[in-house]
Amino acid sequence: MFVETKNIGLRNIEVADTKISAIDGINGKLIYRGYDILDLVKKSSYEETACMLLNDDLPSKTVLSEFNDKLIDARTVPDGLEKILKDIPKTANPMDVLQSSVAVLAAYDNEKLDDRPTNYNRAVNLISKLPIIVACWDRIRNGKETILPSKDLGHAANFLYMLTGNIPDAEFARIFDICLILHAEHSFNASTFAAREVSSTRAHMYAAVSAAIGALSGELHGGANFQVMKMLLDIKTEDKVESWIKERLAEDKKIMGMGHAVYKTFDPRAEVLRELSRRLSEKTGEPWYKITKKVEDVTAEEMKKIKGSDIFPNVDLYSASTYYMLKIPTDLNTPIFAISRVAGWTAHIIEEKFAEAAPKPMLYRPKAVYVGKYCGPSGCEYLPLEKRQ
Ligand SMILES: CC(C)(COP(=O)(O)OP(=O)(O)OC[C@H]1O[C@@H](n2cnc3c(N)ncnc32)[C@H](O)[C@@H]1OP(=O)(O)O)[C@@H](O)C(=O)NCCC(=O)NCCS
Repeated sequence: MFVETKNIGLRNIEVADTKISAIDGINGKLIYRGYDILDLVKKSSYEETACMLLNDDLPSKTVLSEFNDKLIDARTVPDGLEKILKDIPKTANPMDVLQSSVAVLAAYDNEKLDDRPTNYNRAVNLISKLPIIVACWDRIRNGKETILPSKDLGHAANFLYMLTGNIPDAEFARIFDICLILHAEHSFNASTFAAREVSSTRAHMYAAVSAAIGALSGELHGGANFQVMKMLLDIKTEDKVESWIKERLAEDKKIMGMGHAVYKTFDPRAEVLRELSRRLSEKTGEPWYKITKKVEDVTAEEMKKIKGSDIFPNVDLYSASTYYMLKIPTDLNTPIFAISRVAGWTAHIIEEKFAEAAPKPMLYRPKAVYVGKYCGPSGCEYLPLEKRQ
């Protein structure tokens, strides 16, 4: 009667067309709107990359300047949301706070239309507000006054400023800007798929983005970078790496920050982040780059011995130490992923809602294979409660 479920985890199942990004997992390439990520991190900024993701191509001067103006104008949180943030228990997980805040933002959007221009404006609004919410929450939970954004700082520098109250060092700000570019988009990963799936029901952008934040919070997805830093802090010194990794693998546990569902070679983002982590370690004198590199090497060696296969670092391995050396609290690692990825999510939501060419997206409705109780075509006999064991 039952057939085995195929396609568990939807690996390699094509569910929609997208013009937003492409991943070549065999050759380790990531392309946003046709542009290689390795080129973008050298030449672009997060603002320009986000604007490009929401449009079809690199923006003209006018389009980018309008986008920047909208970003700056939207750098506030409604008073009502700030009040809620002040009332939430200070021990709340920042991802839960961010997810609920996005749902609250829906209540402050009085626009009835759900057309493309309205969604574009909503996207810019969310890209602008998510970092502000994260920074405000961190200050509120630490009993500090929130800080007003600075019109003179770019998106990345402004976040660091609102978090710490200090104008960031230019090199630190550029490193953080590159991190934001690297995390902005990654095709049909779990959180983006969640956003598209919710959008396919014609729910609004806030519902889709808050679903995406929920999906990102899990440790097999965006939550991995938090787990990586916990691991590094637990390991503490380079000489302890080997025994720590061997023990963990012997217990059949995963090493966070290693392996990827799509890349079967080096994740290009990890390559850039490795260099950023190295630069920061050199600048700050902190040991985290060397410890992380050893985690990478030992895991690769051990996995080769155990499974006979290669394993490579993913985006989370070196982003953890990079953020740590930028003095960002460890539990903000995943919210930071979200403040960047919101550009990709919203681009996908717009594509899902307004795709012009066939095949147009439709309501997602995969099929499950039923493997539960079966008593024949008329079903099982219903026993009244008093007759059940
Ligand atoms: C991302 C992830 C879920 C992809 O898993 P996947 O699609 O099953 O990956 P693969 O098919 O290449 O895995 C091959 C084998 O290596 C194992 N493996 C993969 N990543 C591993 C890791 N980080 N540590 C230990 N073993 C790992 C798998 O369990 C699998 O073992 P099996 O053949 O005995 O079942 C997985 O690599 C993982 O859990 N990584 C750690 C979490 C993480 O960093 N997530 C962020 C991703 S960006």
